[in-house]
Amino acid sequence: MPTASHDDLLNARYGSQVKPDNIIWNAQVEQLIAHKSVRAFLPDPLPDGALETMVAAAQSASTSSNLNQWSVIAVSDATTRERLAYLAREQRPGQPEGAGVNEWIAQAPTVLLWVLDGSRNHETASAQGVPREVFDYLDSFLMGAVDTALAAQNAVVAAESIGLGVTYLGSMRNRAEEVAELVGLPRHSIVVFGMVVGRPDPQRDTNVRPRPAQNVVLHRERYNERPDGWLAAYERAYLEFRTASGMRPKTWADAIGGSVSYEYMDGRQNLRRTLQERGFGLQ
Ligand SMILES: Cc1cc2nc3c(=O)[nH]c(=O)nc-3n(C[C@H](O)[C@H](O)[C@H](O)COP(=O)(O)O)c2cc1C
Repeated sequence: MPTASHDDLLNARYGSQVKPDNIIWNAQVEQLIAHKSVRAFLPDPLPDGALETMVAAAQSASTSSNLNQWSVIAVSDATTRERLAYLAREQRPGQPEGAGVNEWIAQAPTVLLWVLDGSRNHETASAQGVPREVFDYLDSFLMGAVDTALAAQNAVVAAESIGLGVTYLGSMRNRAEEVAELVGLPRHSIVVFGMVVGRPDPQRDTNVRPRPAQNVVLHRERYNERPDGWLAAYERAYLEFRTASGMRPKTWADAIGGSVSYEYMDGRQNLRRTLQERGFGLQ
């Protein structure tokens, strides 16, 4: 749980940008605002009950029409974790085959794979012999993906409240079919993202990553104009964070530029085909 003052928490979250002065503080809000992704872990396995606590929190998230269309696979086996790290590699053009593996994925004691899981409901509906057109449509995919994310984020909040750290892994979609095969996913299911979880290594602590000021993302009544100078203000906060974290100077705009390149997808451009082969219609 955070021990920093409220001012420290807001300074970390927004840097030098304008900050709200009317937050309704409590322990839960403090913990949420103190969030940071963790990529360096102690080798200890998860404490007894941690997984079950996370899953109870995940199952307590709202779920569209109570359809419960997600599952989570907890991978602790070292060989499987290494394989997952390999499948999540960021392979840039011109790099040797197998480059870009993030070793920290394999070093986390547990990797959770968050699965959009329509297989149970498909099976339950099939047993009744009713038509199942919903699975042919994009909304079915989106609904399941949203529910999976809500569940996962509840698990993150629970994990952080018991002293664990996490990082989401969208890179589990880089080679989505191979990840599905590795863990034996049934049809009508797909790993939407993964998550490393473990006890943070205090020797390799990191800083809270600032976000744009609230007046950039909070619109009242209707979509408002972006405030003048918002990007420059965020760039200052972003640079302060990178400097304090010993990272090379890079602008957020550069990061956005990189995130829209073809290379950034790292195999995810095949996702529609994989989804359709696994039974998602996406019409
Ligand atoms: C759905 C999702 C997928 C992500 N995938 C990755 C990933 O593949 N690798 C990674 O290092 N971080 C990943 N992240 C972590 C983000 O980079 C991180 O949340 C963001 O930079 C903000 O940092 P913070 O979580 O420390 O506030 C992902 C986050 C989300 C929500």
